[in-house]
Amino acid sequence: MKKIGLFYSFHSVKTKQQAQKIIAALGAENIEEVNVEEADEATFKKYSNYILAVPTWFDGELPNYWDEFLPAVEDGSLKGKTFALYGGGDQKGYAENFVDGLGIMADFIEARAGKVIGFTSTEGYEFEGSKAARGDQFVGLALDIENQAALTGERIEAWTEQLKKEFK
Ligand SMILES: Cc1cc2nc3c(=O)[nH]c(=O)nc-3n(C[C@H](O)[C@H](O)[C@H](O)COP(=O)(O)O)c2cc1C
Repeated sequence: MKKIGLFYSFHSVKTKQQAQKIIAALGAENIEEVNVEEADEATFKKYSNYILAVPTWFDGELPNYWDEFLPAVEDGSLKGKTFALYGGGDQKGYAENFVDGLGIMADFIEARAGKVIGFTSTEGYEFEGSKAARGDQFVGLALDIENQAALTGERIEAWTEQLKKEFK
């Protein structure tokens, strides 16, 4: 496996805990952690394999650190690069916008010819609407600490096993 650039907010407690579980499962030697709050374009372009942590904020929006970062790379191509996305959401509190951030990020990547992998089943979640849902799949791993914290560990285990096969 090529080194994976894992981009997340180092200041976000939940996202960081999830990142640490993902690193443990994939092996620290396979991962380079990058704080998206301090990332620049050159750092972002270094990798061909990525995991991006994209929780949903503000009723179906990206966190502000992603909104601030993406303009730096919005004009470039992501061709030849592969991305896996995970992020927190709250299917009861934000049932109409559940994990929308994953969908917004997947659309951003695909619009620039990047490849998104690591899709997961929507089975086991209850929500009204989600930009992350395509048919019966999410475009990444949806983690719901508010309502399904007990499932997080097994969801990360299954997803990282899937990524080991899907990342080239
Ligand atoms: C103000 C606020 C807005 C939120 N909006 C959404 C939302 O639109 N959709 C969703 O699925 N979750 C939403 N959530 C839930 C968060 O995505 C969830 O708590 C996530 O685990 C946050 O991770 P973080 O604290 O690491 O950023 C929201 C949470 C807060 C506090």
